[in-house]
Amino acid sequence: MIWAGFLFGPLNAGDMGVAKALFPVVERASETCRAISNCIVPAADWRLTIAPALCFVLAARVLDVLYRRLVRPILFRFDAERVHHLAMAFLHGLGPIMQMWAREKNARLLPSAATEREVFGLKFPNPVGLAAGFDKNALVLPAWEGLGFGFAEIGTITAKAQPGNPKPRLFRVPEISGVINRMGFNNDGANAVAARLEKLRTTPRWPRFPVGINLGKSKVTPLDEAAADYLHSFTRLRHLGDYFVLNVSSPNTPGLRSLQDRPALDALFAAVQAANISHKPMLVKIAPDLTWEAIDDVLSLVESHRLAGIIATNTTIDHSTVPEHRRQTGGLSGVPVRARSTEVIRHITARTKVPVVGVGGIFSADDAKEKFDAGAALIQLYTGYIYRGPALIAEILRAL
Ligand SMILES: Cc1cc2nc3c(=O)[nH]c(=O)nc-3n(C[C@H](O)[C@H](O)[C@H](O)COP(=O)(O)O)c2cc1C
Repeated sequence: MIWAGFLFGPLNAGDMGVAKALFPVVERASETCRAISNCIVPAADWRLTIAPALCFVLAARVLDVLYRRLVRPILFRFDAERVHHLAMAFLHGLGPIMQMWAREKNARLLPSAATEREVFGLKFPNPVGLAAGFDKNALVLPAWEGLGFGFAEIGTITAKAQPGNPKPRLFRVPEISGVINRMGFNNDGANAVAARLEKLRTTPRWPRFPVGINLGKSKVTPLDEAAADYLHSFTRLRHLGDYFVLNVSSPNTPGLRSLQDRPALDALFAAVQAANISHKPMLVKIAPDLTWEAIDDVLSLVESHRLAGIIATNTTIDHSTVPEHRRQTGGLSGVPVRARSTEVIRHITARTKVPVVGVGGIFSADDAKEKFDAGAALIQLYTGYIYRGPALIAEILRAL
């Protein structure tokens, strides 16, 4: 019953209470197991380090095959957004337990200098993050730590709560390993998300990695009032995030991408940085469809307003690779955006020292390497995670 509740219970209701109650019980049980195993074989090094590492590698391999051969074929038979909600309910229930196991595992393994990174003044346990859009409302932050991510970006969050576009609005394109979405920034709004984060911060479940907060413009706010809209969200959330992202590149909010034009971007950066009193790293997320000249314009503003980094890239509006019968309005992600996103990263890192977070079409360790070789300091996953499942992170980290 409890497990059924965990898996399928409503996301915002009492199941968090059950998880909270279970947390110390499982923690106590795992402490006891550790004490017993240490008595049987007193602190033998291989037991504490090598054996767990081998188990981890083996488990990742099994998970990979299971996901691709069994779980994904079943999930892909159902509506994409329903599956997303089911996955979120699962992660909401099991997240705290996964998080605890991950902490237990990390305590046994030596910290790996190969995976740690310091970027824009923040320490990342590893450079593989969750991209914006998966956990828009910060509902399952502990799960992302449990799954092995080195950071997670919540949002996009807007000043006002909004339902997003009518459903259906999320479509898989398996022929090209892509996804088309026109979600339209469906989110609970800055106030509700801030309250949720404030609550989580007072618990041991607050993740031990940097949390990024991605901000967008409310649909009802006119474009010429965009800066005030971002400012409202930033002011409400600025004490809660480790870094912030100004998302001006989603194709699903009418006119939003015009905020990438020089005068609008200048005004937005000036307004938000003036309110950035504690100097939180402020990043901007750009579209893959910008011309080189437009990207250079963004770069010069990033430098003059002392932004901390650039996220490249969002989804593309170029649908030339999409088969006729799969055509939908929205942003295309996954393999079709991979090459262009790498090209954009290479262009930026050749011109500036501002750190770049590379995102777009990462489906394997080789794809991750391509982004790092292009100059990305950190990377993020979204569509690759849907297609490859949780084993993708372990594969990338092993190859680092
Ligand atoms: C369903 C879906 C929703 C997304 N929502 C957001 C969002 O709210 N904010 C944002 O900045 N990017 C959003 N993105 C874009 C991703 O963060 C990422 O930049 C893009 O998908 C390219 O990476 P990928 O090929 O690994 O998916 C979304 C992507 C998808 C597939």
